[in-house]
Amino acid sequence: TQAPRAQAGLVVVANRLPVSLERDAAGRPHWRHSPGGLVNALEPFLRGRRGVWVGWPGTTAHDLPALPDDGLRLHPVRLSADDVRGFYEGFSNGTLWPLYHDVIVPPEYHRGWWDAYVRVNRTFAEAASRASGPGATVWVQDYQLQLVPAMLRELRPDVRIGFFLHIPFPPVELFMQLPWRTEIVRGLLGADLIGFHRPGGARNFRWLAHRLTGLPTAPHPASGSGQEMVRLGDRDVRIGAFPISIDAAELDRLARRPDVQRRARQIREELGDPEKIILGVDRLDYTKGIDVRLRAVHEMLSEGRIRPDRVAFVQIAIPSRERVEHYVRLREDIERAVGRVNGEFSRVGRPVVHYLHTSVSREELAAFYSAADVMLVTPLRDGMNLVCKEYVACRYREDGALVLSEFAGAAAELTGAFLVNPHHLDDVENSLAEALAQSPHQARLRMGGLRRQVLTHDVEFWARSFLAALSDGRPGVPGSPVA
Ligand code: ADP
Ligand code: G6P
Repeated sequence: TQAPRAQAGLVVVANRLPVSLERDAAGRPHWRHSPGGLVNALEPFLRGRRGVWVGWPGTTAHDLPALPDDGLRLHPVRLSADDVRGFYEGFSNGTLWPLYHDVIVPPEYHRGWWDAYVRVNRTFAEAASRASGPGATVWVQDYQLQLVPAMLRELRPDVRIGFFLHIPFPPVELFMQLPWRTEIVRGLLGADLIGFHRPGGARNFRWLAHRLTGLPTAPHPASGSGQEMVRLGDRDVRIGAFPISIDAAELDRLARRPDVQRRARQIREELGDPEKIILGVDRLDYTKGIDVRLRAVHEMLSEGRIRPDRVAFVQIAIPSRERVEHYVRLREDIERAVGRVNGEFSRVGRPVVHYLHTSVSREELAAFYSAADVMLVTPLRDGMNLVCKEYVACRYREDGALVLSEFAGAAAELTGAFLVNPHHLDDVENSLAEALAQSPHQARLRMGGLRRQVLTHDVEFWARSFLAALSDGRPGVPGSPVA
């Protein structure tokens, strides 16, 4: 870890820094924007504050080139190759990620991975302690760092600690599989406030905290806050739901830019001017249901419900966790499925599925969102899902259609979408057909409602709600009810 730098009053601690070190084809290192919703949500918020961000720079290299100096103060945490294997690829993404996402693939339980998780969480707690000024607010993020709150409290009883989980908190029956379930709950209870996306996650956690530690729980007395609490001796830990969002105004502005609109028209031309463009945008993750989409499109093409000369399906998939076994297999499966659809239904120079295994810039993404007639978001389980909110934020003409899985946290807010059960292929296909056929009037009604929700509940609203609840627990602090 690094020598201490300036201490701050607001400290964000996340596994990843907002930038990660990568190498180009010639082996030259360069900083890249880190993947995923956590970074995209928090970065715009923190940029406006004078906070620091403690996190891993995505490399085990010893010599780091100078970190980008663009208004955010970054404190890198060094991880060894062993740490990355045991803590990141192992316990975080081989145990917790699948366990918290409904065991879509089987989680693995290894003592060595757990030991690495404990060790690396301690490293993060120490780095957070060094970065925090007296009485600072420390906001710990996500499943990789669930032991940090209790470890940090031991080191720094003077700081206020918030924790937010960006992924779903699982049903109690699944969480109970975890050999280290009590340790995780105790780790989280080191925080003053624990936030989840959905009231159901908060409820599950409250129940488990009581069951596994025997501590008393009660509704929080701040009337109207809708939060619960666990009583830990002389300290109360608050629990609430805080649905995360995006910088909606910024995306709305981006989508309106003439160069972005020009690029959107160009994309349509490059695709051969299809009548309809269907779009998927995801990290290449087995939770995202990319296979579900491909199956639906394949079946609808086979049955003649969509025509290969009239429809183009674009799937942009950002590479993710490429050394974790299930991700390697997923990539092979997806690429085989793409090949199958194209093999059966494409003509020379006119593929039906356009699959891009790459990350694209915000401008390019806004252009794709603007070009797409139907956005397909079909995760089997997703804490929130920001992609669907980004699509809505870009549709300033109140057109386009969103097909959204009921199993994304966002479905609770975006009720005007075509909501589907991704386990029910007929349902996905019928909704996709409906979305493709909707009239401009129907589109305006649906998209207008979606936009009102997304533009008024942005990431600033989320972060303010959380930090207000963390700072003093005044009555009326916004946070959705737990019950
Ligand atoms: P997760 O956090 O699981 O990755 P989210 O939907 O919450 O899922 O967030 C994904 C974020 O990553 C979004 O902000 C989205 O714009 C971005 N993203 C996804 N795929 C790409 C891509 N291919 N290129 C650039 N950004 C992407
Ligand atoms: C999700 C998680 C984040 C994570 C991101 C990218 O958004 O909630 O914590 O950073 O995926 O995953 P990665 O493993 O590349 O950090």
